[in-house]
Amino acid sequence: MNNRIQETLTDIHTILDILRWSSSQFNSNPIFYGHGTDNFWDETLHLVLPSLHLPINIPTEIYQARLTQKERTNIIKLVNYRINQRIPVPYLTHQAWFCGLKFYIDKRVFIPRSPIGELITSYFHNLLPHYPYRILDVGTGSGCIAIAIAIVYPKSEVDAIDISIDALKIAEHNIKLYNLEHRVIPIHSDLFSKLPKLKYDLIITNPPYVNNSDICKLPKEFHHEPMISLSAGNNGLKVVQKILKNVIHHLNINGILICEVGSTKIALKEHYPNIPFHWLQLSNGGEGVFMLTYKQLLSFTNTI
Ligand SMILES: C[S@@+](CC[C@H](N)C(=O)[O-])C[C@H]1O[C@@H](n2cnc3c(N)ncnc32)[C@H](O)[C@@H]1O
Repeated sequence: MNNRIQETLTDIHTILDILRWSSSQFNSNPIFYGHGTDNFWDETLHLVLPSLHLPINIPTEIYQARLTQKERTNIIKLVNYRINQRIPVPYLTHQAWFCGLKFYIDKRVFIPRSPIGELITSYFHNLLPHYPYRILDVGTGSGCIAIAIAIVYPKSEVDAIDISIDALKIAEHNIKLYNLEHRVIPIHSDLFSKLPKLKYDLIITNPPYVNNSDICKLPKEFHHEPMISLSAGNNGLKVVQKILKNVIHHLNINGILICEVGSTKIALKEHYPNIPFHWLQLSNGGEGVFMLTYKQLLSFTNTI
């Protein structure tokens, strides 16, 4: 054990002590919040309590409980990793939350945080023309969107595709956690290339959309995520363009596409000035999620 950890250990006895110490460490060091929390206190709770195998919302009286030496040493090490190596908390605790659901996460996969979550829990603000029985999640990552949708729409079947075999292993693990093996099917596919010949009522996607120059400027935390989940060429449209070109062949005539492009919204609008993107309202933060119907897609697909 190094001297710094030894010194810190002597002053830390309870959960409250370690919460106070960790939050001071986070608040006094230049780290970036954005992988599930947006402030030092929530970051502390999300690191410390799962490391003790406790839920985030334990009654605060339990904060007086004493820690074992092993627990204290482990948390101090994790806090140091978070600060010195800028590793996002979900990669240290192996858990992340999306739509109120807990997901297993590790460095093989993008950390769930899409604003699409808010649309799922609000049943897409009633924008879907009918119940989505057949759904496709393109670039499923941890499977968070596919699983959350399958839970919100219990009569649906969801195909969850990803180009990354590593990501699919984690999606598969999460699908099993929620006993959804019969309704959420992980498929290894480069976009639509390996799909069954089926048409979908809803195609939803949070594809990679960060352009090359922005990738270089991202805080260090993002560089722990798989590059294939973020990087999308010079203008950020590399993957979205392919989706727009081919998606029509996989939609029902009443089907819709919902796609997140974040701040790449500006580049997308410039690139396709004639496409009537319907930008969805997001009240919990985030930006750049659009919807297009089959009919709208049909009217411009030949021009892409
Ligand atoms: C931004 S992450 C989104 C993950 C997950 N849907 C979420 O919201 O947390 C994008 C995902 O798309 C996958 N991906 C990238 N290029 C792809 C392609 N050509 N075909 C299928 N999936 C792709 C990546 O492996 C990654 O898992």
